[in-house]
Amino acid sequence: MQASGHPHDFPTEPALAAIPDALLPWYDAHARRLPWRSPPGTPAPDPYRVWLSEVMLQQTTVAAVTAYFEKFTRTWPTVEALAAADDADVMAAWAGLGYYARARNLVACARAVAARGGAFPDTEDALRALPGLGAYTAAAVAAIAFGRRAVVVDANVERVVSRLFAIDAPLPGSRPAIRQATDTITPEARAGDFAQAMMDLGATICTVKAPRCLLCPLRPHCRAEAEGRAADLPVKAAKKAKPVRQGRTFWIERTGPDGEAQVLLVTRPGSGMLGGMRALPDDGWSARGDGDGSPPTGLANADWADADWRAGGMVRHGFTHFDLELHLLLGTAQPDANVRHAEWWPRARIDDAGLPTVFAKAARLAMASD
Ligand code: ADE
Repeated sequence: MQASGHPHDFPTEPALAAIPDALLPWYDAHARRLPWRSPPGTPAPDPYRVWLSEVMLQQTTVAAVTAYFEKFTRTWPTVEALAAADDADVMAAWAGLGYYARARNLVACARAVAARGGAFPDTEDALRALPGLGAYTAAAVAAIAFGRRAVVVDANVERVVSRLFAIDAPLPGSRPAIRQATDTITPEARAGDFAQAMMDLGATICTVKAPRCLLCPLRPHCRAEAEGRAADLPVKAAKKAKPVRQGRTFWIERTGPDGEAQVLLVTRPGSGMLGGMRALPDDGWSARGDGDGSPPTGLANADWADADWRAGGMVRHGFTHFDLELHLLLGTAQPDANVRHAEWWPRARIDDAGLPTVFAKAARLAMASD
């Protein structure tokens, strides 16, 4: 590649090959042992495990994903097993990981793969056509599970590449330049190891704060380090302040037929915020202003309008585009209370209900109030 005329003055060919040549031996020695991985240089892992881990790892840290990955693969060891699962069981198992559309797509994708005999397609383009596989996941699975050369760019890779090439334009506008630069350093051989090596470098050495440049195998090739400003990159466009939204949620107890305390839970509509998840009833806060059109969930009907509510306090929860202040109201119901589209759940087993984090916080608050 010629440096002239290019906005980022990329290194010339030999230096580009030098990057995988320096990075892969480092990965051979320092790769993180993760349950979905094969050790460096060994045969690729089961595509099902690669796909599952990559879907979980979007927007979520390795530390948070590991226990979920173990639980999913124990419960559903193959893509066919996941395809045959009840949607509700998968949604409940996903509870706490967030971005619940991923779980809905997970089941849809497992069924699409099972329908084609249980084998994942082995090219980036064909993977991209499966439900829920975006550019990142298709590239990651093609490289890691099938050894295909693919340009894999996650947030760690964005940071490493921004520094290597001293890309000054702020994210997210710099993404096309970062992708192009990553393309120039991606090798034909060991594409999966290269992608994961870049991620590991970003997670352990080329960290957001205080990068450990003295330990970095790419130090001789890093333009930002040469200019003494690795820690200043990448530049991020100023974030808009998130709006704060108010909502109400209801903790309603009754004494069940065999004398055990029960609490009223709903299953949210299949699309929209937290779609398909079991939840406490609420006043439809998610519909206000975020444009997803969700109807109120649970208690919009007249049955409860006159109930005798006690204030139970408030929980805060951050979503991608807004922060929620969710006010908790506590009430009791008659044993024969009419609960269409809802279920009475044993209070003592609330931890098994698979509530998304915002409702798990509200449930914890309610349980602590007596
Ligand atoms: N983040 C996303 N995918 C990953 C992987 N395969 N290994 C480590 N971190 C990751």
